[in-house]
Amino acid sequence: MKRSTAFIILIGLFFISCHQGDKGKNNFNSSPEITPLEFGNNIALKTMGILGKNLMHAINSEGTEQAISFCSSRAIPLTDSMALSFDAKIKRVSDRNRNPNNKASTVELDYINNSKEAISKGQTIKPKLITTENGYIGYYPIMTNGLCLKCHGQLNKDIAADLYSKIKQLYPQDSAIGYKEGELRGIWVIEMNNGKNIVN
Ligand code: HEC
Repeated sequence: MKRSTAFIILIGLFFISCHQGDKGKNNFNSSPEITPLEFGNNIALKTMGILGKNLMHAINSEGTEQAISFCSSRAIPLTDSMALSFDAKIKRVSDRNRNPNNKASTVELDYINNSKEAISKGQTIKPKLITTENGYIGYYPIMTNGLCLKCHGQLNKDIAADLYSKIKQLYPQDSAIGYKEGELRGIWVIEMNNGKNIVN
């Protein structure tokens, strides 16, 4: 499969639950033909699946307002538990972050800005791999779709005022609103430290 195709699938699969059967340690030994960029992509995809499934469950069973509590209390712990099972570090960061802990660093901002420029020229955004002393870091874009706008869209149009006051209570410095569909909301940063298991 071409990387660009795999990537579109990654974005599309945000709300599809991940397979429950393949928990546990995963590394490159189990799939020696996989590249680090693809391995990181799989991690991002599966983490998105878990977050998306839980978010949808929270919205459907308790409504958008309760789902905010879910995002606020569970998004990072769920991401961390995926990190443990993949022996990797997983972060979601943004140039317009909601949680102050998800603020993009200078290097991450470079990737975000380059990706935004590519989008504005009608090009496909490509994930990026950086080689580090201990392994690799992969960057993968996170795009918005219609469902995201309930909490990241335009105030008083997509986001109800009372809902936003709840968001502001939890995140007084929120800058993650004003998005439309198909925009770059942030990126996955997947740090694969287990370099010795990686087969290029
Ligand atoms: C029910 C409300 C809600 C919906 C719907 C929602 N989000 Fe969020 N989102 C949040 C909250 C709350 C946070 C802060 C989570 C935290 O504290 O870690 C957040 C954080 C994020 C972050 C991490 C960066 C940051 O700003 O802190 C990304 C990336 C993100 N959301 C993308 C999306 C995308 C893409 C969608 C749609 C597919 C989406 N969200 C749908 C409420 C929502």
